[in-house]
Amino acid sequence: MIESAITLGDFVAFGSYLMLLTWPTAAIAWIINLIQRGQVSLKRIQDILDTPPMITDQADVKTALSLTKPPKIEVKNLCFKIQNEAPILKGISFTIQPGHTLGIFGPTGSGKTVLSRVLARLESVPQNTLFIDDIDILKWPLKAYREGLSYVPQESFLFSDTIAQNVAFYQPESKSVQSEAVEMASQNASIEYDIHRFPKNYDTLVGEKGVILSGGQKNRLALSRALYKPHFILILDDILSAVDHKTETKLIQNLFKNKGQTTSVLISHRVSALTHCDQILVLEEGHITDSGTHQSLLEKEGIYKHTWQYQKLENTHE
Ligand SMILES: Nc1ncnc2c1ncn2[C@@H]1O[C@H](COP(=O)(O)OP(=O)(O)OP(=O)(O)O)[C@@H](O)[C@H]1O
Ligand SMILES: [Mg+2]
Repeated sequence: MIESAITLGDFVAFGSYLMLLTWPTAAIAWIINLIQRGQVSLKRIQDILDTPPMITDQADVKTALSLTKPPKIEVKNLCFKIQNEAPILKGISFTIQPGHTLGIFGPTGSGKTVLSRVLARLESVPQNTLFIDDIDILKWPLKAYREGLSYVPQESFLFSDTIAQNVAFYQPESKSVQSEAVEMASQNASIEYDIHRFPKNYDTLVGEKGVILSGGQKNRLALSRALYKPHFILILDDILSAVDHKTETKLIQNLFKNKGQTTSVLISHRVSALTHCDQILVLEEGHITDSGTHQSLLEKEGIYKHTWQYQKLENTHE
Protein backbone atom coordinates (compact mmCIF):
# COMPACT_ATOMS: atom_id res chain seq x y z
CA MET A 1 0.00 0.00 0.00
CA ILE A 2 2.95 2.31 0.91
CA GLU A 3 4.44 1.62 -2.52
CA SER A 4 0.95 2.08 -4.05
CA ALA A 5 0.98 -1.52 -5.39
CA ILE A 6 -2.47 -2.10 -3.83
CA THR A 7 -5.21 0.27 -2.71
CA LEU A 8 -6.47 0.66 0.86
CA GLY A 9 -9.65 -1.13 -0.24
CA ASP A 10 -7.62 -4.13 -1.50
CA PHE A 11 -5.75 -4.28 1.80
CA VAL A 12 -8.97 -4.25 3.88
CA ALA A 13 -10.57 -6.79 1.55
CA PHE A 14 -7.50 -9.08 1.89
CA GLY A 15 -7.74 -8.95 5.70
CA SER A 16 -11.49 -9.69 5.57
CA TYR A 17 -11.00 -12.65 3.21
CA LEU A 18 -8.34 -14.03 5.51
CA MET A 19 -10.78 -13.86 8.44
CA LEU A 20 -13.49 -15.53 6.35
CA LEU A 21 -11.11 -18.40 5.62
CA THR A 22 -10.27 -19.11 9.28
CA TRP A 23 -13.40 -21.17 10.11
CA PRO A 24 -13.54 -23.23 6.87
CA THR A 25 -9.84 -24.12 7.29
CA ALA A 26 -10.45 -25.29 10.86
CA ALA A 27 -13.53 -27.19 9.65
CA ILE A 28 -11.50 -28.99 6.95
CA ALA A 29 -9.05 -30.19 9.59
CA TRP A 30 -11.95 -31.33 11.77
CA ILE A 31 -13.61 -33.18 8.86
CA ILE A 32 -10.36 -34.89 7.85
CA ASN A 33 -10.01 -36.10 11.43
CA LEU A 34 -13.63 -37.32 11.40
CA ILE A 35 -13.17 -39.17 8.12
CA GLN A 36 -10.04 -40.91 9.40
CA ARG A 37 -11.78 -41.99 12.61
CA GLY A 38 -14.77 -43.17 10.58
CA GLN A 39 -12.50 -45.23 8.32
CA VAL A 40 -10.98 -47.01 11.31
CA SER A 41 -14.43 -47.73 12.78
CA LEU A 42 -15.74 -48.91 9.42
CA LYS A 43 -12.83 -51.31 9.10
CA ARG A 44 -13.58 -52.76 12.52
CA ILE A 45 -17.27 -53.23 11.66
CA GLN A 46 -16.33 -54.68 8.27
CA ASP A 47 -13.98 -57.18 9.97
CA ILE A 48 -16.88 -58.39 12.11
CA LEU A 49 -19.29 -58.55 9.16
CA ASP A 50 -16.71 -60.42 7.07
CA THR A 51 -16.05 -63.07 9.73
CA PRO A 52 -17.55 -66.34 8.50
CA PRO A 53 -19.86 -67.95 11.13
CA MET A 54 -18.31 -71.00 12.77
CA ILE A 55 -21.57 -72.89 12.64
CA THR A 56 -23.14 -73.23 9.23
CA ASP A 57 -25.42 -75.61 7.37
CA GLN A 58 -23.81 -78.76 6.00
CA ALA A 59 -24.23 -79.66 2.36
CA ASP A 60 -26.70 -82.48 3.12
CA VAL A 61 -29.28 -80.56 5.24
CA LYS A 62 -32.93 -81.41 4.72
CA THR A 63 -34.18 -77.99 3.65
CA ALA A 64 -37.85 -78.92 4.01
CA LEU A 65 -37.57 -79.43 7.81
CA SER A 66 -39.16 -76.94 10.18
CA LEU A 67 -40.40 -77.00 13.76
CA THR A 68 -44.18 -76.99 13.91
CA LYS A 69 -44.69 -78.66 17.31
CA PRO A 70 -42.64 -79.30 20.45
CA PRO A 71 -40.03 -81.87 19.39
CA LYS A 72 -38.37 -84.78 21.13
CA ILE A 73 -34.75 -83.96 22.00
CA GLU A 74 -32.29 -86.80 22.37
CA VAL A 75 -28.63 -86.62 23.28
CA LYS A 76 -26.57 -89.78 22.74
CA ASN A 77 -23.15 -90.22 24.29
CA LEU A 78 -22.14 -86.60 23.75
CA CYS A 79 -18.52 -85.74 24.40
CA PHE A 80 -17.60 -82.14 23.84
CA LYS A 81 -14.47 -80.10 24.03
CA ILE A 82 -13.51 -76.64 22.87
CA GLN A 83 -10.57 -76.74 20.46
CA ASN A 84 -7.82 -78.89 21.95
CA GLU A 85 -8.65 -78.30 25.60
CA ALA A 86 -9.69 -81.06 27.99
CA PRO A 87 -13.22 -82.44 27.40
CA ILE A 88 -15.93 -80.36 29.12
CA LEU A 89 -18.86 -82.76 28.61
CA LYS A 90 -18.25 -86.49 28.85
CA GLY A 91 -20.63 -89.25 27.75
CA ILE A 92 -23.85 -87.27 28.17
CA SER A 93 -27.04 -89.13 27.21
CA PHE A 94 -30.66 -88.21 27.89
CA THR A 95 -34.03 -87.86 26.17
CA ILE A 96 -36.61 -85.13 26.59
CA GLN A 97 -40.06 -86.21 25.43
CA PRO A 98 -42.10 -83.69 23.37
CA GLY A 99 -43.54 -80.98 25.62
CA HIS A 100 -41.61 -82.15 28.69
CA THR A 101 -39.26 -80.06 30.84
CA LEU A 102 -35.74 -81.14 31.69
CA GLY A 103 -34.08 -79.61 34.72
CA ILE A 104 -30.28 -79.42 34.89
CA PHE A 105 -28.68 -79.02 38.28
CA GLY A 106 -24.98 -78.93 39.06
CA PRO A 107 -22.27 -77.03 40.86
CA THR A 108 -20.51 -74.10 39.24
CA GLY A 109 -18.22 -75.07 36.35
CA SER A 110 -19.91 -78.44 35.84
CA GLY A 111 -20.73 -77.74 32.18
CA LYS A 112 -24.37 -76.61 32.35
CA THR A 113 -23.89 -73.54 30.16
CA VAL A 114 -21.79 -75.46 27.66
CA LEU A 115 -24.55 -78.11 27.42
CA SER A 116 -27.20 -75.42 26.89
CA ARG A 117 -25.09 -73.85 24.14
CA VAL A 118 -24.74 -77.24 22.46
CA LEU A 119 -28.53 -77.71 22.59
CA ALA A 120 -29.06 -74.22 21.13
CA ARG A 121 -26.51 -75.13 18.44
CA LEU A 122 -24.24 -72.28 19.35
CA GLU A 123 -21.36 -74.77 19.48
CA SER A 124 -20.48 -77.20 16.72
CA VAL A 125 -21.97 -80.56 17.63
CA PRO A 126 -20.33 -83.86 16.68
CA GLN A 127 -22.29 -86.12 14.32
CA ASN A 128 -24.77 -88.66 15.75
CA THR A 129 -24.94 -87.08 19.19
CA LEU A 130 -27.90 -84.72 19.16
CA PHE A 131 -31.23 -85.66 17.61
CA ILE A 132 -34.33 -83.51 17.21
CA ASP A 133 -37.40 -85.63 16.49
CA ASP A 134 -35.01 -88.54 15.70
CA ILE A 135 -33.21 -86.52 13.01
CA ASP A 136 -29.56 -85.58 13.54
CA ILE A 137 -29.27 -81.87 14.37
CA LEU A 138 -26.71 -81.54 11.55
CA LYS A 139 -29.49 -82.42 9.08
CA TRP A 140 -31.71 -79.59 10.37
CA PRO A 141 -31.34 -76.26 8.56
CA LEU A 142 -29.86 -73.86 11.11
CA LYS A 143 -32.41 -71.15 10.32
CA ALA A 144 -35.41 -73.46 10.74
CA TYR A 145 -34.09 -74.82 14.04
CA ARG A 146 -33.27 -71.41 15.49
CA GLU A 147 -36.66 -70.06 14.39
CA GLY A 148 -38.37 -72.59 16.61
CA LEU A 149 -36.02 -72.01 19.54
CA SER A 150 -35.94 -69.42 22.31
CA TYR A 151 -32.75 -69.31 24.35
CA VAL A 152 -32.00 -67.10 27.33
CA PRO A 153 -28.25 -67.14 28.02
CA GLN A 154 -26.81 -66.82 31.51
CA GLU A 155 -25.42 -63.38 30.64
CA SER A 156 -28.25 -61.69 28.81
CA PHE A 157 -27.56 -58.85 26.41
CA LEU A 158 -29.81 -55.81 26.38
CA PHE A 159 -29.71 -53.07 23.79
CA SER A 160 -29.54 -49.37 24.52
CA ASP A 161 -33.20 -48.89 23.58
CA THR A 162 -36.65 -48.85 25.20
CA ILE A 163 -37.97 -51.77 27.24
CA ALA A 164 -40.65 -52.46 24.60
CA GLN A 165 -38.05 -52.60 21.79
CA ASN A 166 -35.87 -54.93 23.85
CA VAL A 167 -38.79 -57.31 24.46
CA ALA A 168 -39.90 -57.18 20.82
CA PHE A 169 -36.38 -57.73 19.47
CA TYR A 170 -37.57 -60.69 17.39
CA GLN A 171 -40.12 -58.50 15.57
CA PRO A 172 -39.25 -58.14 11.90
CA GLU A 173 -38.56 -54.49 11.07
CA SER A 174 -41.39 -54.37 8.56
CA LYS A 175 -43.98 -54.96 11.29
CA SER A 176 -44.82 -52.68 14.17
CA VAL A 177 -44.33 -53.80 17.77
CA GLN A 178 -47.45 -55.47 19.16
CA SER A 179 -47.83 -53.79 22.54
CA GLU A 180 -50.35 -56.38 23.79
CA ALA A 181 -47.92 -59.21 23.04
CA VAL A 182 -45.11 -57.27 24.77
CA GLU A 183 -47.28 -56.85 27.88
CA MET A 184 -48.27 -60.52 27.83
CA ALA A 185 -44.63 -61.63 27.57
CA SER A 186 -43.63 -59.28 30.42
CA GLN A 187 -46.48 -60.60 32.55
CA ASN A 188 -45.37 -64.18 32.00
CA ALA A 189 -41.79 -63.23 32.83
CA SER A 190 -43.02 -61.59 36.08
CA ILE A 191 -41.41 -58.26 35.24
CA GLU A 192 -44.59 -56.28 34.54
CA TYR A 193 -44.72 -54.90 38.09
CA ASP A 194 -41.12 -53.63 37.85
CA ILE A 195 -41.80 -52.02 34.45
CA HIS A 196 -44.81 -50.11 35.80
CA ARG A 197 -42.63 -48.62 38.51
CA PHE A 198 -40.54 -46.82 35.86
CA PRO A 199 -41.94 -43.35 34.99
CA LYS A 200 -42.17 -44.07 31.26
CA ASN A 201 -43.20 -47.73 31.64
CA TYR A 202 -42.50 -49.64 28.43
CA ASP A 203 -40.92 -46.55 26.82
CA THR A 204 -38.20 -46.32 29.47
CA LEU A 205 -34.69 -46.34 27.98
CA VAL A 206 -32.64 -49.09 29.61
CA GLY A 207 -29.25 -47.51 28.83
CA GLU A 208 -26.08 -49.21 27.62
CA LYS A 209 -26.44 -52.99 28.25
CA GLY A 210 -29.45 -52.26 30.51
CA VAL A 211 -27.45 -50.23 33.02
CA ILE A 212 -30.55 -48.90 34.82
CA LEU A 213 -31.84 -52.41 35.58
CA SER A 214 -30.92 -54.77 38.40
CA GLY A 215 -29.47 -58.23 37.65
CA GLY A 216 -32.80 -59.95 38.26
CA GLN A 217 -34.66 -57.40 36.14
CA LYS A 218 -32.21 -57.88 33.26
CA ASN A 219 -32.71 -61.64 33.39
CA ARG A 220 -36.48 -61.34 33.39
CA LEU A 221 -36.43 -58.79 30.56
CA ALA A 222 -34.34 -61.26 28.55
CA LEU A 223 -36.89 -63.95 29.44
CA SER A 224 -39.80 -61.81 28.23
CA ARG A 225 -37.90 -61.35 24.96
CA ALA A 226 -37.66 -65.13 24.64
CA LEU A 227 -41.35 -65.59 25.48
CA TYR A 228 -42.40 -62.90 22.96
CA LYS A 229 -40.85 -64.92 20.15
CA PRO A 230 -42.96 -67.89 19.01
CA HIS A 231 -41.07 -71.07 19.95
CA PHE A 232 -41.33 -74.82 20.47
CA ILE A 233 -38.06 -75.24 22.36
CA LEU A 234 -37.20 -73.06 25.36
CA ILE A 235 -33.74 -73.10 26.99
CA LEU A 236 -33.25 -71.03 30.14
CA ASP A 237 -29.71 -70.84 31.52
CA ASP A 238 -29.78 -69.98 35.20
CA ILE A 239 -32.09 -66.99 34.91
CA LEU A 240 -33.48 -67.50 38.41
CA SER A 241 -30.25 -67.03 40.35
CA ALA A 242 -30.79 -63.29 40.86
CA VAL A 243 -34.48 -63.25 41.86
CA ASP A 244 -36.00 -63.62 45.33
CA HIS A 245 -37.93 -66.70 46.39
CA LYS A 246 -41.39 -65.12 45.89
CA THR A 247 -40.63 -63.94 42.33
CA GLU A 248 -39.09 -67.31 41.56
CA THR A 249 -42.26 -69.16 42.65
CA LYS A 250 -44.45 -66.89 40.51
CA LEU A 251 -42.14 -67.22 37.52
CA ILE A 252 -42.08 -71.01 37.76
CA GLN A 253 -45.88 -71.04 37.96
CA ASN A 254 -46.08 -68.94 34.78
CA LEU A 255 -43.52 -71.07 32.96
CA PHE A 256 -45.39 -74.27 33.72
CA LYS A 257 -48.81 -72.74 32.94
CA ASN A 258 -48.73 -73.85 29.30
CA LYS A 259 -47.07 -77.16 30.01
CA GLY A 260 -46.88 -79.45 27.00
CA GLN A 261 -46.65 -76.68 24.42
CA THR A 262 -42.86 -76.39 24.58
CA THR A 263 -39.98 -78.77 25.09
CA SER A 264 -38.00 -76.94 27.77
CA VAL A 265 -34.61 -77.06 29.44
CA LEU A 266 -34.35 -75.29 32.77
CA ILE A 267 -30.89 -74.83 34.26
CA SER A 268 -30.68 -73.74 37.86
CA HIS A 269 -28.53 -73.71 40.96
CA ARG A 270 -31.70 -73.47 42.99
CA VAL A 271 -33.36 -76.83 43.58
CA SER A 272 -36.70 -75.11 44.33
CA ALA A 273 -36.86 -73.97 40.67
CA LEU A 274 -36.59 -77.54 39.41
CA THR A 275 -39.24 -79.28 41.54
CA HIS A 276 -41.86 -79.31 38.73
CA CYS A 277 -39.53 -80.65 36.02
CA ASP A 278 -40.42 -84.01 34.45
CA GLN A 279 -36.81 -85.12 34.72
CA ILE A 280 -33.74 -83.64 36.40
CA LEU A 281 -30.10 -84.29 35.52
CA VAL A 282 -27.36 -83.79 38.09
CA LEU A 283 -24.21 -82.68 36.28
CA GLU A 284 -20.82 -82.83 37.99
CA GLU A 285 -17.53 -82.11 36.20
CA GLY A 286 -19.10 -82.80 32.82
CA HIS A 287 -20.65 -86.15 33.79
CA ILE A 288 -24.28 -86.95 34.57
CA THR A 289 -23.94 -88.36 38.07
CA ASP A 290 -27.64 -88.77 38.78
CA SER A 291 -31.04 -88.28 37.18
CA GLY A 292 -34.68 -88.65 38.06
CA THR A 293 -37.64 -86.64 39.29
CA HIS A 294 -37.41 -84.26 42.24
CA GLN A 295 -38.95 -86.88 44.54
CA SER A 296 -36.75 -89.74 43.41
CA LEU A 297 -33.58 -87.61 43.75
CA LEU A 298 -34.57 -86.63 47.30
CA GLU A 299 -34.70 -90.31 48.24
CA LYS A 300 -30.99 -90.73 47.44
CA GLU A 301 -28.04 -89.33 49.33
CA GLY A 302 -26.16 -86.90 47.10
CA ILE A 303 -25.47 -83.33 46.15
CA TYR A 304 -29.10 -82.75 45.03
CA LYS A 305 -30.63 -83.80 48.36
CA HIS A 306 -28.02 -81.91 50.38
CA THR A 307 -28.48 -78.71 48.39
CA TRP A 308 -32.28 -78.99 48.73
CA GLN A 309 -32.02 -79.32 52.52
CA TYR A 310 -29.59 -76.42 52.73
CA GLN A 311 -31.63 -74.14 50.44
CA LYS A 312 -34.90 -75.00 52.20
CA LEU A 313 -33.34 -73.79 55.43
CA GLU A 314 -32.16 -70.62 53.68
CA ASN A 315 -35.65 -69.88 52.31
CA THR A 316 -37.31 -70.20 55.69
CA HIS A 317 -34.97 -67.45 56.92
CA GLU A 318 -35.73 -65.12 53.93
N1 LIG B 1 -15.09 -71.05 25.71
C1 LIG B 1 -14.52 -71.85 26.58
N2 LIG B 1 -13.21 -72.25 26.41
C2 LIG B 1 -12.61 -73.08 27.27
N3 LIG B 1 -13.20 -73.59 28.36
C3 LIG B 1 -14.48 -73.25 28.60
C4 LIG B 1 -15.20 -72.37 27.73
N4 LIG B 1 -16.45 -72.21 28.22
C5 LIG B 1 -16.50 -72.94 29.34
N5 LIG B 1 -15.33 -73.57 29.58
C6 LIG B 1 -15.02 -74.47 30.72
O1 LIG B 1 -16.03 -75.44 30.79
C7 LIG B 1 -16.39 -75.72 32.12
C8 LIG B 1 -17.87 -75.62 32.30
O2 LIG B 1 -18.29 -74.29 32.12
P1 LIG B 1 -19.80 -73.84 32.18
O3 LIG B 1 -19.85 -72.40 31.83
O4 LIG B 1 -20.63 -74.75 31.35
O5 LIG B 1 -20.14 -74.05 33.72
P2 LIG B 1 -21.55 -73.91 34.44
O6 LIG B 1 -21.94 -75.25 34.94
O7 LIG B 1 -22.51 -73.21 33.55
O8 LIG B 1 -21.18 -72.99 35.69
P3 LIG B 1 -22.03 -71.82 36.38
O9 LIG B 1 -22.98 -72.51 37.28
O10 LIG B 1 -20.99 -71.07 37.15
O11 LIG B 1 -22.68 -71.02 35.33
C9 LIG B 1 -15.59 -74.74 32.98
O12 LIG B 1 -14.56 -75.46 33.60
C10 LIG B 1 -15.06 -73.72 32.03
O13 LIG B 1 -13.79 -73.31 32.41
MG1 LIG C 1 -23.38 -71.43 33.56
